[in-house]
Amino acid sequence: GARVIATLPGDGIGPEIMNVAVKVLETVAEGEGVSLRFEEHAIGGDAIDKTGKPLPEETLEACKASDQVLLAAIGGYKWDNLSSKDRPEGGLLQLRAGLDCFANLRPATLQDELLEGSPLKPEVIKGVDIMIVRELVGGIYFGEPRGFKDADGDRAGYNTMVYKKSEVERIARVAFEIAKARKGNLVSVDKANVLEVSQLWRQTVADAFEADGCEADGLSLSNMYVDNCAMQLCTNPSQFDVILTGNIFGDILSDQASVITGSLGMLPSASVSSPGKPGIYEPVHGSAPDIAGQDKANPLGMVLSAAMMCRYGLNEPEMADIIEDAVKSVLAKGYRTGDLMGASPAGAELTQVSCSQMGE
Ligand code: NAI
Ligand code: MG
Repeated sequence: GARVIATLPGDGIGPEIMNVAVKVLETVAEGEGVSLRFEEHAIGGDAIDKTGKPLPEETLEACKASDQVLLAAIGGYKWDNLSSKDRPEGGLLQLRAGLDCFANLRPATLQDELLEGSPLKPEVIKGVDIMIVRELVGGIYFGEPRGFKDADGDRAGYNTMVYKKSEVERIARVAFEIAKARKGNLVSVDKANVLEVSQLWRQTVADAFEADGCEADGLSLSNMYVDNCAMQLCTNPSQFDVILTGNIFGDILSDQASVITGSLGMLPSASVSSPGKPGIYEPVHGSAPDIAGQDKANPLGMVLSAAMMCRYGLNEPEMADIIEDAVKSVLAKGYRTGDLMGASPAGAELTQVSCSQMGE
């Protein structure tokens, strides 16, 4: 039967870019003889207006029962005054938790046609194609105990960075699978020179790598301290293929890596769970309320998220290749949404298009 894709357009430019992604997927699926069914559900501010909650029970249940989830973006001025637990953004955190999405995949891939959008020198970033695999539900953001306390008459705030072996093993295995679908060069990033939690991380990754026979599968594993990695991302980013790291290091490094590519509107991401369970595929950017409803948004981050869903979620790599090639091809022909007009090599002949035209 058809595989079910739960679509969550959300707020702001969300519905505009979701329309484009669904059209692209329908077109490519038809050409490839793949059967997909799309079912739309409410999330974020849109869901607050309809049901009072940013993640209605109906939406969560539908996502759990689906094959994969495509999410556009949530949030907007209208809901900015709500308390933090009632805000649209809470819907996204609840959805990730509800689907047990413990792995965040953030690619930083430079489209050669957009070389001048990057703050780094073209010769440094040419060919950059990095996938960061970040642990998403553990580490210092969730560790207990946490809080405030009085410390000898002084005030202190504290958090706990903790990882269990089982948590490291499951994220490491996601990274091994990703590396197998790429160049096979894996770098695990930690701070093992200072932190016990990082020493456990490093040893656990090495043991799992060995136990799974990854070397025989053509993978290589090396380790890097997080401070060195931050530096190397600026000075020599093209050395990286897959970076595996914990929650807080991954948060920082993935934002850093994303600016290498220069264009927020182009970046996809995924939050995935164990094999066979649905993952969430979404662009990195937000709901861009400043340009919502004007058919101006760049839909390519959303479209490339759909391609990631094909590759890593649906196991349809041909569909992913077709979509990614189509993105390269429209850029090579000079078509740009407004946000990309400054990002091309000098002298390139550009045509500015709307969101829906880019989709066509
Ligand atoms: P944003 O990513 O929505 O916008 C930042 C700037 O980039 C804006 O000038 C916007 O017009 C532009 N931009 C973003 N995506 C674009 C696209 N596809 N095409 C063209 N231009 C684009 O971040 P901001 O302004 O900080 O947040 C706006 C709202 O989005 C807030 O309510 C925020 O909480 C929410 N948000 C939601 C996220 C999500 O759904 N995962 C992630 C980040 C923010
Ligand atoms: Mg971040």
